[in-house]
Amino acid sequence: MTPNPERTQKIETLLGITGTLLIVVALFLYILNEPVRIAASQGEILAVQLNEAMTLYAENCSVCHGLAGEGIGATPALDSDALRTMPAGDLTRVIADGRYNTAMPAWSQANGGSLSDFQVGELTALIQFGDWQATQDRVVNLGLAPLIPFTTDPDPVLLDAVALLPGGATLQAAITIYAAQCVACHGADGLGTSIAPALNDPLVRAKTADELSRVITNGSSGTLMAGWSNVLLPEDIAAMVTLIQRWEEVPSGAIPAPDVPVAVTAESLALGANLYSANCSRCHGPDGQGTQRAPALNVQSFIVNTPDPAIQQIITLGIPGTSMPAWGDKMTDADIQAVVGFLRQWEPTAPEVAVPVRIGQGGPPWLTNSTTTTTAPTAAPVTTPQTAVTPGAQATAAAATRQPGAGAGTGNGQGGGGPSGSQTTATETASWWQTLDWRILALVTGGLVIAFTLILMGYASLKKPERKK
Ligand code: HEC
Ligand code: HEC
Ligand code: HEC
Repeated sequence: MTPNPERTQKIETLLGITGTLLIVVALFLYILNEPVRIAASQGEILAVQLNEAMTLYAENCSVCHGLAGEGIGATPALDSDALRTMPAGDLTRVIADGRYNTAMPAWSQANGGSLSDFQVGELTALIQFGDWQATQDRVVNLGLAPLIPFTTDPDPVLLDAVALLPGGATLQAAITIYAAQCVACHGADGLGTSIAPALNDPLVRAKTADELSRVITNGSSGTLMAGWSNVLLPEDIAAMVTLIQRWEEVPSGAIPAPDVPVAVTAESLALGANLYSANCSRCHGPDGQGTQRAPALNVQSFIVNTPDPAIQQIITLGIPGTSMPAWGDKMTDADIQAVVGFLRQWEPTAPEVAVPVRIGQGGPPWLTNSTTTTTAPTAAPVTTPQTAVTPGAQATAAAATRQPGAGAGTGNGQGGGGPSGSQTTATETASWWQTLDWRILALVTGGLVIAFTLILMGYASLKKPERKK
């Protein structure tokens, strides 16, 4: 082994250069991945914030701004591009300070509201980056779905009768507006609801036209009563005032109660199904086909003709004087709405023929001895529709479970894009890098460096004898 200083030096230089190159490459890969790693963790933080914000929205905002930020009546939508592109600071200020002299309250604790600055920030993020479909599901699952938006159609016959009164056209116009905009809160025939006072009350009627006009125009600050000046023309508002003042002339029944469908999600349907089988099936039958003890609910004559609020009321109050119990003190409103939603999904497939199954009224033969024979004969009319319902319900479930996932994805994309980055590019470029974990990258690169060094050293020592010849 004669040392050849020249060659050793060459090999050493070669090794040095290769090593340095590999380290540079490793560092480069690491740096390249670093923003993705930061973005991913920022995305996670954003997703957590958005998740909390959906609950805050459900508890504090949905009652005015709607199930999915769509706006209700005179209350503006929050699901709007104008708000999404508004500087975040301005949006935060609107939520924190409210809008003076409107129904929009101030929310920050500094202004006497109930939310911390952090929570106000979360809501800002929700409005700018959130997933309104997922928010809607959250609101429904918390049982906080507002009873609105809903409207009703004035009774046509009574509406014609109103036209014959002096100034009947104004009253007619006002009734039509009332049925579309006010009935949700102020109730059928202006009788009031749990959320807003009666308007056909003598005390309200006694107010001056100015007073009434002012509250309709500007709303009542910090309450559900929004100002209607953006939605109604001054003459419409004047007509509403006339209606309120002359309400005793309007025949009752002119503005019927609206039919408000309960909102459902996969979760609420599952909850409804559980509650039904635990509490109702022993009387109404496992598939709502009725038993000796109680009538069928899964039948066209009942389900088609009974609007959701009516079913909700029957379940809440029970049917006095029968064995149908009142569930209002045993279940929450959310539970009862979930049951209503569950009954409602029978509608498309409910058998058409009503099956009166009251004891002593001579039901179908299979009712004579309930326990053993119920399953077999009912299987024909009832089981078939039931199986037809299931795929639909599963599809809904799948769709609903996919939604929150989509929301989180958007969150990550936003984080990757940085504060002003465009969402789509961030998501696209990040896609394959997102899947790389930097630790694995570092390990692989380290391994490669060692492997290359070993190969080079081996190559060098192999070459030695050849060159010696
Ligand atoms: C009592 C009803 C009510 C509640 C509850 C409410 N808002 Fe509002 N909000 C309003 C009204 C009414 C307006 C329109 C005010 C105006 O006329 O400028 C408004 C306006 C807004 C605006 C400005 C919209 C725009 O287009 O300029 C934002 C943002 C907003 N609300 C967010 C929220 C958030 C977030 C919550 C829950 C923390 C909430 N609001 C709760 C009634 C309400
Ligand atoms: C989202 C629910 C909601 C809607 C929709 C609504 N209101 Fe109201 N309204 C309220 C509430 C709540 C109050 C009580 C405000 C208060 O306590 O100061 C109120 C109060 C009023 C008052 C004052 C009553 C009084 O006792 O002085 C009038 C008048 C009125 N509303 C008219 C209307 C008209 C007309 C419409 C339709 C164009 C309408 N409201 C739509 C919730 C609503
Ligand atoms: C102890 C037996 C019993 C239980 C338990 C029971 N019900 Fe009933 N239910 C009845 C009877 C009996 C009637 C019919 C009352 C009548 O004669 O009008 C009835 C009527 C109804 C009606 C009205 C049907 C119609 O045709 O108008 C609905 C809706 C209803 N029940 C829903 C429910 C739900 C939902 C549950 C479970 C939360 C439930 N019931 C639990 C006995 C029961």
